Amino acid sequence: MGHSLVFMPECHSTNDEASQLIQANRAPEGTLVITNNQTAGRGQRSNVWLAESGKNFTFSIVLKPSFLLIKDQFLLNIAVSLGIADYLFEVLKEPVKIKWPNDIIVRDKKICGILIENQISGQLMRNCIVGIGLNVNQESFAFDKATSMKRLVGTEFSLEQELPNLLHKIELRYLMLREGDVISLFGDYLATMYWRNERRLFSTFQKEFEGTITGVDEIGRLMIEMEDEVKVFSVKEVEFLR
Ligand code: BTN
Repeated sequence: MGHSLVFMPECHSTNDEASQLIQANRAPEGTLVITNNQTAGRGQRSNVWLAESGKNFTFSIVLKPSFLLIKDQFLLNIAVSLGIADYLFEVLKEPVKIKWPNDIIVRDKKICGILIENQISGQLMRNCIVGIGLNVNQESFAFDKATSMKRLVGTEFSLEQELPNLLHKIELRYLMLREGDVISLFGDYLATMYWRNERRLFSTFQKEFEGTITGVDEIGRLMIEMEDEVKVFSVKEVEFLR
C-alpha cells in the first residue's frame, strides 16, 4: 500500500479524488491519495469530517478485493479497522476499541473514522475506496467526544514518520483477509468491539432500550441481546447512548 501515491496539499475529499483516479484507470491496487487539508471531508451517515489542516491523517486507499463476495464486504471493514487499531495500540500502548461499524475509540473518545465506499461488479467487489481520518496532532475539537494521539500521549507526532507503519498494519490485516484467514479476523474483531459484553443503553427510531452487544452476524449487522433474545441491527438502525 502506498507504492502509488498521490499527494495534494489541499482537496475537497480524498475519497472523491480516489474515485476520479479509478474512473481514469490511474489507480492500481494500494494507491494512496493523501492531503494536508481536506475542505469537504465526508463521514458516515452523510456527516462532514472536519480536521485541522496539516495536523492529521486524511487519506484514502484504493483496494481491489476481487476475491471478496459482495455479501462478505463487511470483512473489509473488519480488516481495515483492525489494522488501524493494531497501529494505535502499538503507538499508544493502551486499549483501543472498535465501535461498530468502524469508529476507533480510545478512552471512550473517537480518534479515527473510516468511510469505505464500494464499487461492485456482479457478485464480486471491484474497487473499494477506504477513507481514513485519524486525529494525530489536533488538540481541540468541536465535538467533545473526540480525541487525538497528541492529546493521549502529550507529544507531537511526525505524520511522515508514522505513515509507513500505519499503512503496514492495515496491509497485514488486508493480507490476512486475502489469504482467507477470516476466523482470526472475526475473532480479533469481536475481542476489540467497544461495549461488547457490557449492559448498555441504545436507541432505535422508536425507543431507548438496554442490551448487551454480543457480536456481529455474518453480514456485519450488530447483534444486541435483550430480554433473552438477540436482535440484529443495520447501520443507521441503532445508536449507542451510554
Ligand atoms: C466517519 O467517522 O464518519 C468517517 C470519517 C472518514 C473521514 C475520511 S478523511 C479521508 C476520507 N475522505 C473523506 O472525505 N472522508 C474520509
